[in-house]
Amino acid sequence: MTPENSKGHYPPSDDYRKRAFVKSVKDYDTLYNGSLKDPVAYWAKEAEQIDWFSKDWEETFTWNKEENRFTWFKGGKLNVSYNCLDRHVNNGLKNTAAMIFQGENDSDAKVYTYGELLYEVERFANVLKSKGVKKGDRVAVYLPMIPELPITLLACARIGAVHSVVFAGFSSEAVYNRVSDCTPKVLVTSDGSYRAGKKIDMKGKVNEILERDTSVEHVIVVRRTGADVVMEENRDTWWHDDVTKVPLRCEPEVMDAEDPLFLLYTSGTTGKPKGLVHTCGGYITGAYSSYKYVFNYVPGDVYWCTADVGWITGHTYILYGPLAFGATTLLFEGVPNYPENDRFWQVAEKWKVDIFYTAPTAIRMIRKTGDEWIKKHDLSSIKMLASVGEPIDPDVWKWYHGTIGGGRCPIADTWWQTETGSILISPMTGAFDLKPGSAMKPLPGVEAAVYKEDRTRCATGESGNLYIERPFPSLARTVWNDHAKYVETYWTLFPGHYLTGDGAKVDADGDFWLLGRVDDVISVAGHRIGAAEIEAALIAHPAVAEAAVVPIPDEIKGEAIYTFVTLKDGFEESDDLKKQLVNQVRNIVGPIATPKTIQIADGLPKTRSGKIMRRILRKIAGGSKHEELGDTTTLVDPGVIDLLIKGRI
Ligand code: WT7
Repeated sequence: MTPENSKGHYPPSDDYRKRAFVKSVKDYDTLYNGSLKDPVAYWAKEAEQIDWFSKDWEETFTWNKEENRFTWFKGGKLNVSYNCLDRHVNNGLKNTAAMIFQGENDSDAKVYTYGELLYEVERFANVLKSKGVKKGDRVAVYLPMIPELPITLLACARIGAVHSVVFAGFSSEAVYNRVSDCTPKVLVTSDGSYRAGKKIDMKGKVNEILERDTSVEHVIVVRRTGADVVMEENRDTWWHDDVTKVPLRCEPEVMDAEDPLFLLYTSGTTGKPKGLVHTCGGYITGAYSSYKYVFNYVPGDVYWCTADVGWITGHTYILYGPLAFGATTLLFEGVPNYPENDRFWQVAEKWKVDIFYTAPTAIRMIRKTGDEWIKKHDLSSIKMLASVGEPIDPDVWKWYHGTIGGGRCPIADTWWQTETGSILISPMTGAFDLKPGSAMKPLPGVEAAVYKEDRTRCATGESGNLYIERPFPSLARTVWNDHAKYVETYWTLFPGHYLTGDGAKVDADGDFWLLGRVDDVISVAGHRIGAAEIEAALIAHPAVAEAAVVPIPDEIKGEAIYTFVTLKDGFEESDDLKKQLVNQVRNIVGPIATPKTIQIADGLPKTRSGKIMRRILRKIAGGSKHEELGDTTTLVDPGVIDLLIKGRI
């Protein structure tokens, strides 16, 4: 990539352009404008790049606007694991690396060829079958970043079971909530996990959950840390025993395009996580197509996405997108700063990584520790960089570009959501002059638009709500067990337009700038946590009357958690109590949600209908003066404001 031009933009180098699928703005315009003339025909063409057992879908796209239900490729038959494995094995990639596993301990690494990964997936699919798992049954997955995690997901896909991954960092309570919502027959877990040199318990937490009433009949346990664990007879078995007892071949189940592939929970504002439902045909089409256009993968490359498979980024861009494409994907168990601050770069140098995809929070953390950690390594193999999870501010963008990318690698700032299943807005890095801080343009087939509250289009530069016009193939179809919630959250504010919940603006060149969530969700280190989920945890403490949680800016994590708590009569503020409250949140929601600050307050600002005004609390937590709070006339008791400002920490 040539350096910044006179406009402060970054055009692609000729070398990079050669790798790209879309090599000029003109080509993008032709492709994009063509796709919007007939989006249905465009997506049908993208779907051709997937292997179908039958392409006889009745209609490519149906949309019942009253019920907010839509289908893509319904009646088409396929299997996602077949697309990620068999088709490559049959096409000469049998001995090509599908997945490079790099453990936290550097000597713990293993390369799985496509042939070998298929072998592991078939065996484990048969284990699931032997436990009675059938097409449509749910399988809960609570595993660290080890090969058995992707193997489990692909095995589910193979037999038509619906996987539901719970991030390994979540506490038992969070796992319980999700397990009781999706009622899995089988749960796959491990004895423990490694994190920054420490052994973390997992099986103990699972045992705790299963003491309560759940649907789980069988637990399959991977031996990872060798920790002593309690195995329940007739319920728990070891993965390594199970796989020796089953046949090696497992034919892929024939799935309808609209059959669910997986559920993934995301936090909302109500506190109850929503299980978003993704389907086989639409999801894999979106994953494949976006992977192709965004990452410009060239055969032989090593592609590394540092996300956890427990989040949508890991689902789509560690697993399904790259494998559907026949790429080599790196699965990394560790963290950026263990054993030392250069761990990412040591891994990148070791495996000669070509494409590197991470989150702004990781970039900020690495930047903070100093450039000398990066300079120790030869990163000349890297050809392109990408970012996801939060807006990446221009300063951090330029640092990422210069220090990690050596000034030669373009950056794809990719915008999308758990709901959308795949990237929707990202620059075509082989074509565009990049603008630091902007995710730039929608991918072909995607029409994004920004509207004001009154549903009129925002003018150039004016910020408003970001919508996606019309359903596209990889958009979640519903919320598990709660279609009403799905309709209310995404389709009610402006019927017929998908509400993203993000603020955005479009500049004079038609480039998109993302402005973060418009609701109360807090984004800690790129992970969305519902304010209400944390509040619910605090209120469960015997001393707490009320709680309100707001984000405050945090240099490393993007946002940190600031909590206001009022106490029940008879309780008094103390350091010990504050510690208990922090632990309460850690235990119920998980360590990711650890509050940075707890302010004990006399009262909270409320509207007459009893709604806590987080808008005001956010400003108070952020350091605003009384006169900077905006309209406070709707408050029941305006007197609380000065007390809150006085008590600010
Ligand atoms: C929310 C989705 C799917 C990616 C991982 C997070 C924010 C994501 C960007 C970006 C600005 C971004 C949005 C979005 N977000 N990528 N490139 N620029 N904001 O998935 O947990 O479902 O969160 O993350 O606010 O709505 P998620």
